[in-house]
Amino acid sequence: MRSHILHPTDSIRKTLRFHKTLIRELSARYLTNFLTKKFARLMTPMQQALLLLEAEDLLPRKVIALELFARSGLFTVAEYHHLVEWLEMYEIDPLSARCGKIFFRKAKVLTTDSIQAVRLGNLLRDDYNFIVIDNPDIPLYCDSKYCEHFDLFPYLVDRVADYAVFMMNVVLSIEPVKAKYPGLDIARWLRRRSHFYGIEVEQVRRFTPSRMVDLYRTLFAQYGAVKYATIILRRHTEIGFLILCLDKKGMR
Ligand SMILES: C[S@@+](CC[C@H](N)C(=O)[O-])C[C@H]1O[C@@H](n2cnc3c(N)ncnc32)[C@H](O)[C@@H]1O
Repeated sequence: MRSHILHPTDSIRKTLRFHKTLIRELSARYLTNFLTKKFARLMTPMQQALLLLEAEDLLPRKVIALELFARSGLFTVAEYHHLVEWLEMYEIDPLSARCGKIFFRKAKVLTTDSIQAVRLGNLLRDDYNFIVIDNPDIPLYCDSKYCEHFDLFPYLVDRVADYAVFMMNVVLSIEPVKAKYPGLDIARWLRRRSHFYGIEVEQVRRFTPSRMVDLYRTLFAQYGAVKYATIILRRHTEIGFLILCLDKKGMR
């Protein structure tokens, strides 16, 4: 039988890995802070999203935030945590979650599978109004159990306030992802996309941002009135950051 007692070298390796992660995440954060402050025209997608929401008067007065794929939080969370009254962060990787606990002391950081937590109704509240879904860029993950953000719906909608802002990654074109992950089961990914978007497999390879926005407006119309929806492009035309504001009590 194998012993479960951690060998001293394992524990040293784990600590080293933790510090390496910490340094990498902090360096990226400091560099982003420096560049976005020094060059006012440079903005991250989250900064653009916040500006848009503020300009449209769509930011909730008291932000109850739910970050479902937090990593250490140094990328997205760091840019909006000053706005929140409540912040709940989920991260499956214990090392990243440990960093999150250090950086965001007031947040509830849960080291667990967020999709499972949503589906089982295990989130701490049911009135989130600012939901960030920054799932891994590999579309099939957690042993291919999950695909993009699809497995969160419709369950997540029952956990949010009557008015809620959703922010999530959307894949506009499958080509760069295919190139980045050559071993990916493309047929399975396309089937999942086809099922989620309710259209033929051949139609889910590429979307324009406006077509994608229309699709999400249609999908979310079953949950309430979509007050606003737009896509911010991240670096290139293939991956977008969708902002969607839902009023569950609004006219459909
Ligand atoms: C794209 S990163 C998130 C980046 C983060 N929002 C940021 O800005 O730094 C995706 C993260 O999701 C985590 N993850 C993957 N599957 C998960 C799951 N089922 N539940 C919670 N976290 C998960 C990964 O460990 C990874 O840290």
